[in-house]
Amino acid sequence: MNFINVKTYDEMSRVAADIVIEQLKKKPDSVLGLATGSSPVGMYNLLVEANKNGEIDFSKVTTINLDEYFGLSGDNDQSYRYFMNDKLFNHVNINKANTYVPSGNSSDPEEECKAYDALIEKFGIDLQVLGVGRNGHIGFNEPDDVFSKGTHVTRLDESTIKANARFFENESDVPTMALTMGIESIMSAKKIILVANGDSKKPIIEKLRTCEVDPHIPVSILKNHPDATIIFSES
Ligand code: GLP
Repeated sequence: MNFINVKTYDEMSRVAADIVIEQLKKKPDSVLGLATGSSPVGMYNLLVEANKNGEIDFSKVTTINLDEYFGLSGDNDQSYRYFMNDKLFNHVNINKANTYVPSGNSSDPEEECKAYDALIEKFGIDLQVLGVGRNGHIGFNEPDDVFSKGTHVTRLDESTIKANARFFENESDVPTMALTMGIESIMSAKKIILVANGDSKKPIIEKLRTCEVDPHIPVSILKNHPDATIIFSES
């Protein structure tokens, strides 16, 4: 696991975007695993800019997102599908049919999870982008006694609900469950980058530098990945 430490959110976004840009130049039909949250937004803005100025092309790219809130449809402005359309897909030349986010309002969530795993298996992820929760969650894989394998429905930690409440009008509006890609699927990506910034993430990143691989700190699994880079900015 490599660490890149920078000072500002803008620098963090630049380093992360450059890695994605390099990936798309090397392999224009790359499969990108993507994340939501505030951490990767700056990186998405730079990718939009690079697409607009002709540096990168999304026409052959496939994307597979990590997770979605349970119970929200894609047109709900709090859904992760909406977030991805709004922050990236609506602004680049990607074919939306090649962008995958788990369906939050499927009538058969178990079936949806199986189908999502089949999709990950079929495409394979070239580059996975991650953020991290303050409690070490990746995607919505919360601290647990074991590492999860495939896509599953999960109950969110009380601390995650509190942390994500900033995006909702009331804390009681935050969904309590989600569908998330499993740890094993995340680890199957050929390359992984994780972006994190600021005081709220400093403790988990500090812990990650020294801790053992432990399912109670889900992000610690990245220590077992051959090509994982943590990009942390102080502010
Ligand atoms: C959510 C998402 C994660 C994300 C995390 C951190 O819970 N499921 O994928 O990494 O929040 O979000 P932020 O970047 O806003 O701190």
